[in-house]
Amino acid sequence: MEISKVGVVGLGTMGAGIAQVCIQAGFETVGREVSAELGKAARTRIEHYLGRGVEKGRLTAAERAAALGRLETTTELSELGGCDLVVEAIVEELDAKRELFGELDRVVDPHAVLATNTSALSVTEIAAATEHPERVVGMHFFNPAPVLPLVEIVRTEAAAEEALDTAYVFAERLGKRPIRCADTPGFVVNRILIPLLNDCVRVLDEAGVTPEDLDTALTAGLNWPIGPCALIDLIGVDVHVHAAEALHAALGEKRMAPPRRLVEMLATGLLGRKSGAGFFRY
Ligand SMILES: NC(=O)c1ccc[n+]([C@@H]2O[C@H](COP(=O)([O-])OP(=O)(O)OC[C@H]3O[C@@H](n4cnc5c(N)ncnc54)[C@H](O)[C@@H]3O)[C@@H](O)[C@H]2O)c1
Repeated sequence: MEISKVGVVGLGTMGAGIAQVCIQAGFETVGREVSAELGKAARTRIEHYLGRGVEKGRLTAAERAAALGRLETTTELSELGGCDLVVEAIVEELDAKRELFGELDRVVDPHAVLATNTSALSVTEIAAATEHPERVVGMHFFNPAPVLPLVEIVRTEAAAEEALDTAYVFAERLGKRPIRCADTPGFVVNRILIPLLNDCVRVLDEAGVTPEDLDTALTAGLNWPIGPCALIDLIGVDVHVHAAEALHAALGEKRMAPPRRLVEMLATGLLGRKSGAGFFRY
């Protein structure tokens, strides 16, 4: 199906990034936030990032202005009614997402695809809150959405092939590199990354290594582009712990559970870059 208008619900870290990618790729985009202030703040962040892109020569000032002209923000869900595809990027809570999908199913044109950007929840359970689970898919973007090319297109048992194909082709039109996968906990990347990062944190204590040396071990020894401690600081300790708990609950494997050190960091507010300190200071 041809996509011309896109909706993004939730303009936080991920939603604002996804909206930015959409307007840069030429799609009329309506972003929905819970308050006009949050919508405005998201627009300001997008303006800022596109401005930096102009400074760095990645786009022209005219392209920036044209992209921003394609972005509309609203607090009214009904304004997403005419969208061909809606990406949901609200808080990672099943009840909130199920309630939203129930509403989206009622207000958005029946031909449209409804996609969730959930990292660790079941797309099947979110889709089950609608009358039309065949049009619900996962579109899992990575942070920062304007930079990382991967999008996991998540298939539930109920999803229609046409909806999955639409989401896949749309991701390609955004300039992304989509892959297809089933609706299993953590999908592909987080299923691998979360226990791997947990192991890295456990090694800190088991092997008496400093965060600096652990990061050097993996950047200098395995050619990782970023060390595990710097990566957790970037993801956010809170986001990582939340995802690890969800995977642990879903799979019951000990390695999935967040290591004690991360739980303590969360309790003391050491969340990584967003709080100014995590494994490192910012
Ligand atoms: N942060 C990441 O690294 C990352 C990566 C991939 C996927 N995700 C997933 O993306 C989703 C969003 O994560 P985030 O980090 O951007 O969260 P965030 O807290 O930065 O943003 C969520 C936004 O949604 C808004 N919101 C809440 N309920 C809403 C509603 N009913 N309608 C409209 N807006 C609403 C909030 O005001 C907030 O601005 C989550 O499902 C998360 O698991 C996050």
